[in-house]
Amino acid sequence: MNKNILIVPGDGIGQEVTAVGKRVLDRIAEKFGHAFTYDEALIGHVAIEATGSPLPDETLAKMKASDAVLFGAVGHPKYDNDPSAKVRPEQGLLKMRKELGLYANLRPIKLFDELLGASSIRPEILRGADILFFRELTGDIYFGEKGRKNDGATAYDVAEYSRHEVERIARKAFEAARTRRKKLCSVDKANVLETSRLWREVIQKVALEYPDVEVEYQFVDATAMLLIKDPKKFDVVVTANLFGDILTDEASQIAGSMGMLASASIGDGTGVYEPIHGSAHDITGKGVANPLASILSAALLLDISFGLKAEADAVIAAVDAVLKAGYRTRDIADAHTPQEKILGTSAMGDQVIANL
Ligand code: IPM
Ligand code: MG
Repeated sequence: MNKNILIVPGDGIGQEVTAVGKRVLDRIAEKFGHAFTYDEALIGHVAIEATGSPLPDETLAKMKASDAVLFGAVGHPKYDNDPSAKVRPEQGLLKMRKELGLYANLRPIKLFDELLGASSIRPEILRGADILFFRELTGDIYFGEKGRKNDGATAYDVAEYSRHEVERIARKAFEAARTRRKKLCSVDKANVLETSRLWREVIQKVALEYPDVEVEYQFVDATAMLLIKDPKKFDVVVTANLFGDILTDEASQIAGSMGMLASASIGDGTGVYEPIHGSAHDITGKGVANPLASILSAALLLDISFGLKAEADAVIAAVDAVLKAGYRTRDIADAHTPQEKILGTSAMGDQVIANL
């Protein structure tokens, strides 16, 4: 198979982890006889520094022209405590999602058995947890009208959803539930929000087309509690943009660390694959970041954008083997297991590649 993949490392540890993800893709191409060609482009803080824009036109054009994008992270601490900054790295990410029509963000929460001890949640509660989140990605309070009024003394962000937006993500989530344990949990705040009432109405309607899928409705606050109390009860979860952002960071603890979680953003055109973690400037340049989320994002890319299921499974099996052999990055180390071998970013990549 001939494919061109755009590498968009972005900021902070995005550079270090996508470099490893790309090496794993290269190894897969070699092993399975594919020809992957690569290009690279800027986004986020590094793009602002180089061009003034967090998503240069050239990057967007390259994304649209590529078969898939392997993405790192965006963000820089200098903006976090500067609420008045007009140009921000995250604007690049949001514009990319909108421009590429990436309305469905898949975040699989799967615990590798070897990491049972790395989580702060008790192993007997975690064992067997396997959740697939569908986070809506191009609507909600992220993209509604926002601004200031009363001479800047009052601020607002409008949350908005149309039937069409809910329907298309609902269908993707129901289809996925069909291939899994056939359970779907729709998360909203329908006791308070009008957007959530529309959300629930649409899910109820789409559910009629999937009588084989068992549907449950939960409020977002209760879901935050249930994820920790009984993560095994969830199979597929579908939710709005902001709720999904928050719940998936929480759910990352079910997988042991944010450093383990991959995501796929899909929709109308090119798919984008990225870790759910951020740019992590506190550890940038130290060579200690966990590359497994980027490697597992590469696996999602192979599976979803290229339909290369065997190749994707090979990557996941290699990660599993490396963990079984006791290799860990710092973030997934378990103080109670002294026989673990702690590796840096690149060495962890070497181990996964050696297992391929
Ligand atoms: C994510 C991130 C982004 C989001 C930020 C960086 C804008 O937290 O992808 O989850 O809120 O969507
Ligand atoms: Mg987030």
